[in-house]
Amino acid sequence: EKRAVGTAHSKVILIGEHAVVYGEPAIALPFPTLSATCIVEHSYGKILFESEKYTGPLERIPERMKGLALCINETLLELGQKQANLKITLISNIPIARGLGSSAATAMAIVRGLSNYFAIPLTKTKLKTLGNIAEKYAHGNPSGIDMETVFSDVPILFQKGFIPKPLFIQKPFYLVVADTGEIRNTKLAVASILAKRKQDPKHIEHSIHLLGLYTRETKDVLMAGDLSRLGELLNLAQIELKNLGVSDEPIDHLVNVAKNEGALGAKLTGAGRGGCIIALAENGDHASMLCKRLREAGATETWFFKVEQDSEQLSCEE
Ligand code: MEV
Repeated sequence: EKRAVGTAHSKVILIGEHAVVYGEPAIALPFPTLSATCIVEHSYGKILFESEKYTGPLERIPERMKGLALCINETLLELGQKQANLKITLISNIPIARGLGSSAATAMAIVRGLSNYFAIPLTKTKLKTLGNIAEKYAHGNPSGIDMETVFSDVPILFQKGFIPKPLFIQKPFYLVVADTGEIRNTKLAVASILAKRKQDPKHIEHSIHLLGLYTRETKDVLMAGDLSRLGELLNLAQIELKNLGVSDEPIDHLVNVAKNEGALGAKLTGAGRGGCIIALAENGDHASMLCKRLREAGATETWFFKVEQDSEQLSCEE
């Protein structure tokens, strides 16, 4: 029996979320610890969809998952396989709606799975465009950073409308990710800033501008390997994200715990108002200690990973 698999990893935004929607750059990292897998098999009858959230005919998928159905249908159209009888199974260990790119990774895994099943390769641009159909449905007006990062094997500097640039990282660093366990809604968080900007443009635009400056400096700091300045920049970004109104109590609490435990810097990651925080550790042991402390302080889950440059991958970029 024919069977194919597609996968995609999650993402972590290091700095620049929200400002990226207004044209500022942002830095995002592939987070390979968490990923989505899509298994495509033959089935009798039409398209069957199976996932933790919903199992049944694709045409009866619940409203909040409609983006995935649109993405599947468009991909089949693109592959010239509209009449296919398929079973599409989704397996993911990326917590949903926590700022780790679960929706982008899921969509990318599905598009890759379908392309593999029919052994019809799609261009990188086509893969991302098809994946973004689901993102647009879920997020309204995404900057595209999530899709680019779940697609990338290296850290990227992303700016809306430009090809993402691979980042040079002089000195590897350990980043802790801790989940507040609170569900967030990217669409609402993005819309809240837009509304605030209408009311008080000067104030909001100033924060967005500063976030852009911090991101640009972060790029230089990564290139120079200055981890203590990197930590300061994460802290400065958190101040502006608070100012934009996208932080909240559970996030502030975990950020403070991380800082009290010696993190070089800490901030929310992704859309905020729930979701995850990131904290910069001194080294691997410190990262593992921070994870423990953050869980004791209420984080529902924690992870840590080493961010480093693979020079071979760098030169392989398109
Ligand atoms: C979400 O991961 C990042 C945001 O900047 C939204 C976007 O860029 O589309 C909050």
